[in-house]
Amino acid sequence: MGAISITGLARSFKGTVAVDAVDLEIADGEFCVLLGPSGCGKTTLLRMLAGLLEPTAGAIAIDGVDITDRPSKDRDIAMVFQSYALYPHLSVYRNLEFPLTQAHKHTGVTLDKAQRRARIEEVAAALDIGHLLDRLPKALSGGQRQRVAVGRALVREPKAFLMDEPLSNLDAALRTQTRQELSALHQRLGATFVYVTHDQVEAMTMATKIVVLNKGRIEQVGTPLDVYDRPASTFVATFIGSPAMNLLPARITDIDGVVRLIGADFAADLWDGRVDEFEALIGARPEHMRVLGHGERGDIELAIQVASVEQLGHETIVYGKAADADVCVRGARTGDIRVGDIVRVGLDLAHLHIFDAATGRRLEWQPDPTDAVEASADPALTY
Ligand SMILES: Nc1ncnc2c1ncn2[C@@H]1O[C@H](COP(=O)(O)OP(=O)(O)OP(=O)(O)O)[C@@H](O)[C@H]1O
Ligand SMILES: [Mg+2]
Repeated sequence: MGAISITGLARSFKGTVAVDAVDLEIADGEFCVLLGPSGCGKTTLLRMLAGLLEPTAGAIAIDGVDITDRPSKDRDIAMVFQSYALYPHLSVYRNLEFPLTQAHKHTGVTLDKAQRRARIEEVAAALDIGHLLDRLPKALSGGQRQRVAVGRALVREPKAFLMDEPLSNLDAALRTQTRQELSALHQRLGATFVYVTHDQVEAMTMATKIVVLNKGRIEQVGTPLDVYDRPASTFVATFIGSPAMNLLPARITDIDGVVRLIGADFAADLWDGRVDEFEALIGARPEHMRVLGHGERGDIELAIQVASVEQLGHETIVYGKAADADVCVRGARTGDIRVGDIVRVGLDLAHLHIFDAATGRRLEWQPDPTDAVEASADPALTY
């Protein structure tokens, strides 16, 4: 069991608030990814979970037991650091064995030599470092060292694994491979993982739960697809997804009992009713916008001047300038679009996100399917 419960957790460093009033429930067996830009407090939060850093305020419980004041060695948690610290004078085998020789001090479990060897060989095989067991760390590549560091946490089979950017030193191919190995290990072990990264692809591919952090605070908690499909703020919307979600300024107001959005050169009806007029940012993912061919329509249409075109082989990404925003459109491969062209791009209300420009927070709304059809059928409403 390894359910982690965090309440009101905070940590400041001489006036700098690194982690600010974090409340978070991590269920047993979850792969929880803490995601956010550099300096948002990921490592600080993880080190408090590991017992390496004292919180300024708040509490941490594992399986319902408050461990806030318990020393690190008594928490039954293994941590893989951002800068993996291996013992330089010990072979890979001895590095992996070390946590096993220590474990009995606080778990009461003692493994004999053969059991230790079996455990080490199993972990080494899973991480593809079995052929390196006799080497010293200095004779390993950065990626190999990193996998040894991961292995050292895995051999102990603790209640929870804490990992701080464990793949950051690997090249792209190895990162993809190790990502899959970690996911497979997580499924096999069924243990709780708390994994820190600023790489959204790692977060999307491995997490069962993503926690997006911004300046020490939680912006959103959800499954990868929740966070992608319904970002709670413009911060999350633009942090997750590459290329980032397009954001266009628009005013939301009501005219004759219909709530409308009005942008620099576009407009659309949203729903029947009234609203206190406000400035919004409307969001659309690049894959939900399309370059309109002759006679094609979108619920919302705008003109962009093409600034660059990226040919990726399987798709084409077009970057352009609209009246008051940069716009990126991602679609099927085409060779027909050139830099400097003025093209019309469209998007459908079903894929439109609305954020309050003042607070950045998401506004929940549902397009009325009948309204959407009417809007696209009547050019006067869309342009
Ligand atoms: N020991 C310290 N003394 C002073 N300030 C610190 C200390 N540790 C962290 N901070 C500050 O706390 C904030 C959060 O740091 P933290 O290391 O948790 O960020 P992070 O999200 O892990 O970033 P990165 O992705 O760069 O590793 C930063 O502003 C950092 O400068
Ligand atoms: Mg960090």
